[in-house]
Amino acid sequence: METLDNSKYEKEILSLADVDNIGLRAHSKEFECGKTDDPAFVAKYAELWRPDFAVIGPEEPLAAGVVDTLAKLGIPSVGPSEKLARLETSKSFARQILERHGIPGNPLFRRFETRDGLREYMKELGQFVVKPDGLTGGKGVKVWGDHFSTLQDGYDYASELLSKKRAAVVVEEKLEGEEFSFQSFSDGTNVVHMIPVQDHKRLLDADEGPNTGGMGSYTCEDHCLPFLTSDDLRDAGRINHDVVQALRSELGSEYKGIVYGGFIATRSGIRLIEFNARFGDPEAMNVLPLLETDFIDVCEAIISGTLNELDIRFSHKATVCKYVVPEGYPDHGVDDVEISLPVGPAAPNLRTYYGAVKGGGSRGPLKLTGSRAVAFVGIGSNVDEAERIAESAASKVVGPVQHRKDIGTKALIQKRVGHMSRLRAPQRPLEEVQENSSHRKFA
Ligand code: AMP
Ligand code: GLY
Repeated sequence: METLDNSKYEKEILSLADVDNIGLRAHSKEFECGKTDDPAFVAKYAELWRPDFAVIGPEEPLAAGVVDTLAKLGIPSVGPSEKLARLETSKSFARQILERHGIPGNPLFRRFETRDGLREYMKELGQFVVKPDGLTGGKGVKVWGDHFSTLQDGYDYASELLSKKRAAVVVEEKLEGEEFSFQSFSDGTNVVHMIPVQDHKRLLDADEGPNTGGMGSYTCEDHCLPFLTSDDLRDAGRINHDVVQALRSELGSEYKGIVYGGFIATRSGIRLIEFNARFGDPEAMNVLPLLETDFIDVCEAIISGTLNELDIRFSHKATVCKYVVPEGYPDHGVDDVEISLPVGPAAPNLRTYYGAVKGGGSRGPLKLTGSRAVAFVGIGSNVDEAERIAESAASKVVGPVQHRKDIGTKALIQKRVGHMSRLRAPQRPLEEVQENSSHRKFA
C-alpha cells in the first residue's frame, strides 16, 4: 500500500458549480469533482472512501494510469492499466498487436515517424485515412473524401502532424461499409459480449454536417443489427476475444474492463476501425438498461476473473438513444443557457442521462455547458417503438438545442441495409477481388 501526498492538488479542485451534474448527484451519497485524469487527485478520495472497487469511465484516466495508482492502494478497478489501455491510446499499438498475433481485421496500414516513404505509401493505397498515433478524443483522424480528396492534401496533413515533437502518424487504407460498435466485458481471460450498437457520428439528419462525439444510437431486440449477419457478429466478437488473449500473452497482464471494438462491415468482411478501452458514449446507454444481470456482479466477476461462471443476460428489447446538444455544437456549443426538460410521470421505458449540464433541481435552472447535454433512451419491443419514446422526449426539450430526428427511424435503417446489400452484391470478378485483397480470411 502506498500513501500519496495530495496537498498540491487541493487548489486544483474545480468549482463545484461548474462540473456538478444533477444525474450523478441523484445517485451519489458523497461525491467530489476535480481532475479525474490526475491519479493523485483520484487516489486522495479513494483513500478517504476506501471503495470495494472502482469503475473507470473515460479514456483520459485510463491513459493517465489511474487504475495502476488505485491498484497500489489495494483498490481493484474495472478498467485496464495504463499499459493495457494502449489498445485505445495508440492506434499503431492496436494495429500491430492484431498483426503480430495473426488476428484478422486490419486494413492495410503503416506507421510513420518521418516523411520517408509517406508519399509513396499514400499513392500505393489510393484512398487513405491519416490518424495521429495518440489519444485525440476522436479528433485528428482525417478521411479521404470527408476531409481531403487529393494525395497532396492528405500528405500535407500528415506532414503537419509529423512536424510536432515525437509525433507519429498511422496511414491506412480507407474502408467502405457500415460501422458498428461491439462492446465486451473482459476479465483478462474470459470475454463476454454485449449487444452490437450503431452510433451516428454526424450532427444532422441524413448523416449531414460535421462529425460529433455521437448524436445517438440504437440496438435491436434480436441482439443483432439489420445490416449484419450472425457471421459478422461472430467475427467481430472473435477479434475482441482474441485481442484480450494477445495482450495477456504479450504483456503478461490481464485486461480487466470493457473492450469496445469499433468495427466496419465491408464487402469483404469485418474490419476493425479502432479499439476503445471503455464503454462507448452513447453506446453504454443502449446496452446497460437491458442488462438483466446485476452490474455489481459483473464488475466483481471481472475483478476476480470469473466471468465464465456468471450468466450474463440482456433483455430482448430494442433501444434508441438520442442526444440533445446545444446549438453551435460541436465547435461552439452555446454555454450557460437555460434549458427545460419534459416533465411527466416517470416512465419505465424512458431513461434520461445528463451530460454537459449544470444546475437543476435545488441548484437552480438546468443550464447547458457547451457539449452533448442530455440523452434520452427509449426502450421498446422493437426499434420503432423505442424510437417514438426517445423522439417524443427529445423533441420536448425547450431551449437553444437540437437533436437528430432520424436516428432509429425505419427510413434511416433501411438506408443502411440498402448500402450494405449494394456493397455485398457481387460487382467484380472474384479473381480480381481476391487479388486485391490484403486481408487474412477468418477460419
Ligand atoms: P477513429 O478515431 O479511429 O475511430 O476514427 C474516427 C472515424 O474515422 C471513424 O469512426 C470512421 O468513421 C473513420 N475512419 C477511421 N479509420 C477509417 C478507415 N480505415 N476507413 C474508413 N473510415 C475510417
Ligand atoms: N461512441 C464513440 C465513443 O464512445 O468513442
